Amino acid sequence: MVDTIKLPGLIDPHVHLRDPGQTDKEDFYTGTVAALAGGFTTVIDMPNNLEPITTLERLERKIASAKKQTVCDIGFYFGTLGDNFVEFPKVVDKVKGLKVYLNITTGGFTVDPTKLSAIYRAWESTKPILLHAEEDVLDEVFKTVSEQPKTTHVCHVSSKKELEFVIRAKEAGLPVSCGVTPHHLFLTDEDAKSLKGYGYMKPFLKSKVDQDFLWQHLKYIDVIESDHAPHTKAEKEADPPLFGVPGLETTLPLLLTAEAEGRLTRTQLIERLHTNPARIFGVPVNEDTYIEINMNEYVIVNDELLTKSGWSPFAGWHVIGRVHRVVLRDQEVYRNAQVLVQAGNGQILS
Ligand code: NCD
Ligand code: ZN
Ligand code: ZN
Repeated sequence: MVDTIKLPGLIDPHVHLRDPGQTDKEDFYTGTVAALAGGFTTVIDMPNNLEPITTLERLERKIASAKKQTVCDIGFYFGTLGDNFVEFPKVVDKVKGLKVYLNITTGGFTVDPTKLSAIYRAWESTKPILLHAEEDVLDEVFKTVSEQPKTTHVCHVSSKKELEFVIRAKEAGLPVSCGVTPHHLFLTDEDAKSLKGYGYMKPFLKSKVDQDFLWQHLKYIDVIESDHAPHTKAEKEADPPLFGVPGLETTLPLLLTAEAEGRLTRTQLIERLHTNPARIFGVPVNEDTYIEINMNEYVIVNDELLTKSGWSPFAGWHVIGRVHRVVLRDQEVYRNAQVLVQAGNGQILS
């Protein structure tokens, strides 16, 4: 008999579905199909599109594209380079938060940390401000959040020093949450050598000491976010490669495998993939939205992935837990790698 488990529909608050603008890498259909295959019934999409989502008009075009294509639920973040504050009140009811890139990454929309304080002042909402903030900018972040304690989510915390910052902020009572990616939990700078471009992302893979620190301080990690960042194989084999790795289809099996190895509990897994992201990002939950997972072991194979990018840094890994059925608001939407609903069946979250 096949061992099957049931979990609530998972929520990934950090994906890059590349639509509009770079749909050779992914689009709203393939990206949300990959989400269902990975057990995610809600994703929240980042604003670093080819044309960054920094105006109401671009946001509306993006939402219109998503409406026609998505097969799971989706929300969006707004972007800023520090020069579009007049747009904030126009978009605040249509997005799940504001994203600020304080370090170089895909898209090149880096904001100088000295502008952070003005951005915080202009964001007059309780919806979170999400930061791409690596070690070198954390002092500025601490100062800004201390002066203006607005809800802040630090994305893809990757090192001991970054997590220590989050712990310090939490212990100071600041409204700070954080996410960690599966690649920083399961890969290190040693793997980067053999993966070459396929192990290249921001923040970079870190040492075993950093990785051990993340696992040892899991209680401070609110969310495990895939940072699904698809690029084509050609872009990852180029010199230099582009930053980012896909992750929607591998996050859950990696964590269920870690659970089987005693590295985290089922409760800790559900908190980080469902309960906490729902609370932090205001995602409605529904008890008729759930996933069923076959707990047999299998091997991650690039050709079996449904993301348009067609590869994973975890190809060849033996894992436990393949999603075989997804039910969204009592409707069966996915079974055995087949999507059972029309494109556009997903809901747009506001
Ligand atoms: C992301 C991308 O490709 O959009 N890349 C990455 O390396 N993580 C951007 C980001 O999250 O920084
Ligand atoms: Zn980032
Ligand atoms: Zn990202």
